[in-house]
Amino acid sequence: MRIGVLTAGGDAPGLNAAIRAIGQMALRDGHELIGIPNGWAGLAQDYAGKPLGIADVSGIVGQGGTVLGTARYDLDSPPGGRERVLAAIEENLDALIAIGGDGTQRISHWLADRGAPVVGVPKTLDNDLMGTDYCIGFDTALSVVAESLDRLHTTAASHHRVMVVETMGRATGWVAALGGLAGGADLIVIPEFPVTMDAILDHLAKRRANGSAFSIVVIAEGVNLETLGGHESTAPSSIGGRGVRLALRGVGAFLSSQIDEHGGFEVRTTVLGHLQRGGSPTAYDRIWATRVGAAAYRSVTAHTFGVIPVVHGHDVVLVPLSSVAHGQRRVPREIYELCATFF
Ligand code: F6P
Repeated sequence: MRIGVLTAGGDAPGLNAAIRAIGQMALRDGHELIGIPNGWAGLAQDYAGKPLGIADVSGIVGQGGTVLGTARYDLDSPPGGRERVLAAIEENLDALIAIGGDGTQRISHWLADRGAPVVGVPKTLDNDLMGTDYCIGFDTALSVVAESLDRLHTTAASHHRVMVVETMGRATGWVAALGGLAGGADLIVIPEFPVTMDAILDHLAKRRANGSAFSIVVIAEGVNLETLGGHESTAPSSIGGRGVRLALRGVGAFLSSQIDEHGGFEVRTTVLGHLQRGGSPTAYDRIWATRVGAAAYRSVTAHTFGVIPVVHGHDVVLVPLSSVAHGQRRVPREIYELCATFF
């Protein structure tokens, strides 16, 4: 078989471990492996697939980023991109494995619905793809947040400051919540459970009154500014039309300014940004990326298309692409309340 593989959307540590698993298994079984560069762009613009050999997919299990390159490429603007991808798959490939988050899997689902031999692999650092307990890259992001909070604790304590830490998390607060839990955050603000500015100031004042001279506040970049008393309409969110850049909205900076102005605290802001996405994947990310990558490959060789291997508990199971293609998996109340136990 000619098996194509692509990575689309934002990169995440662990993508190369998945590519390696798919690639080495396919080549060892005598299939042709085609690397599609830069996500859907490598199929929707001029077909850019390149045959890969064993050397291309070896020695990369611990390497961050993606050796295939990735892009945020809008197939609907201008219209016609999806149809070009469909035609490119028909002409050039017997199967395609698309590694990506909800945007990518929506396209995979659309293609599979039209008969294209597509299998997905779940990836998003935000960990909010529907239908899976885990997405490639999430564990590494948590490690970065936890280590950053450890570092911020010592300087916060020395200066008796409030440290506001903004994490990734476009629509959901998984990175902020579990990273904050792992790093001992004193308050976590996420889109799923809005808190008012008054409640935040009250919490910090109570901590100070109880003898805690410093506080670490973690906030997800996707938190609605209006819930904090700001104005969403005046916040910038993109530059030159190249994607939505939530960090530009500056929720962390806004929260800091409010705490400084109305709470009388000395505050500093840290935006962790793309540090959460760069560098080597953790062992956990490497192992699960290998497991879901291997399952996607096996599904292709079994001619089972229109599916995606997801993580349920400790197992990898195949589910239809339709079950991950819509909506976002949100942080449940139970997890948020556990985090809040330690505020
Ligand atoms: O969707 C994953 C994510 O890492 C978000 O948390 C973040 O808002 C966004 O990607 C950043 O994307 P870009 O690569 O376009 O800067």
